[in-house]
Amino acid sequence: MKAYHIAVVGATGAVGQELLRVLERRNFPVASLRAISSARSAGKSIRFRDHSIPSEELADSSFDKIEIVFFSAGGEISRKYVPVACQADAIAIDNSSVFRMEPHVPLVIPEINAEDVRGHRGLIANPNCTTAIALMALYPLHRAFGVRRTFAASYQAVSGSGGRAINELTQQVKDAAQESLVSGSRTDRQATPRVYPHPIAFNLLPHVDSFLESGYTKEEMKMQNEGRKIMHLPQFRASVTCVRVPVYRAHSVAVSAEFERPVSVEHAREVLAKAPGLELVDEPQNNRYPMPLRVAGKDNCEVGRVRVDCAFENGLSFWVSGDQLLKGAALNAVQIAELL
Ligand code: A2P
Repeated sequence: MKAYHIAVVGATGAVGQELLRVLERRNFPVASLRAISSARSAGKSIRFRDHSIPSEELADSSFDKIEIVFFSAGGEISRKYVPVACQADAIAIDNSSVFRMEPHVPLVIPEINAEDVRGHRGLIANPNCTTAIALMALYPLHRAFGVRRTFAASYQAVSGSGGRAINELTQQVKDAAQESLVSGSRTDRQATPRVYPHPIAFNLLPHVDSFLESGYTKEEMKMQNEGRKIMHLPQFRASVTCVRVPVYRAHSVAVSAEFERPVSVEHAREVLAKAPGLELVDEPQNNRYPMPLRVAGKDNCEVGRVRVDCAFENGLSFWVSGDQLLKGAALNAVQIAELL
């Protein structure tokens, strides 16, 4: 089998580290690996298989002789360096939102629109993590019943904001324990928010990504915009509220969806149980339903709490959880590379 020269931009970050583990775990044919970071982490040793690789500072020459490069170092880095990588004839798989909606850039969830990869021109975009996790359950239901529109609320883990956010939650929990803040006094005086505008420990932030004029955030509009592109469904509508929660890992989404055709819980469960990359965990009487702690570190997403929606005609409500560093980022990116 041919093996590939691979680079990971952001190799020291939360997604980058996960990418390396996924490449190892799935036995991706890697001939050589270049781990790339900023100057801050240059020289830091990165473990891959049985080797220790020094991370290199990102530069224009980073992509020489590279065949596939994964970008997970934020939008600004992608904006500047994806074109440099393409110029060097590397195929870029980009985790940022910068190129996702460009018409000639495939935006791919392999279980849904694998065939879109074929039209790539050197760049394939990896979808938004919350969108990817929600669509893993919504798309099979769409195939069965024809989705029209959805209302959803997300419960997003701090690791989606990177390594600094993980540390921020840990520090705030420690501070709170030390100062016995849990006994009822306010936490926002003592906490030291940096990544988020408010304390994330013991709190909920109805604010993920920046606000648009419409009052939605950018993150909230991704489910509609990216959902339309991925499902090839230009009329799809999604009204979403995205919430950052003090969970380390794995996002959850509560979805109510309206369909064109009549639905039943039995038929929906049958469809979901067969869907690739998804597990049905739906035994509420035994307290069994998807939760972040169940899916953290797991490739498959889980769906449960399936019920007929009482506000929509032909509506279903359900709850889906998935590891956003895996299906929402690293796993999906490696699956795209496998398609290539
Ligand atoms: P570094 O470790 O040098 O900061 P996370 O999402 O966990 O915050 O990680 C972000 C990743 O993107 C890290 O690997 C980080 O490297 C990398 N990164 C951030 N800024 C740059 C930059 N200017 N050039 C290259 N890599 C960057």
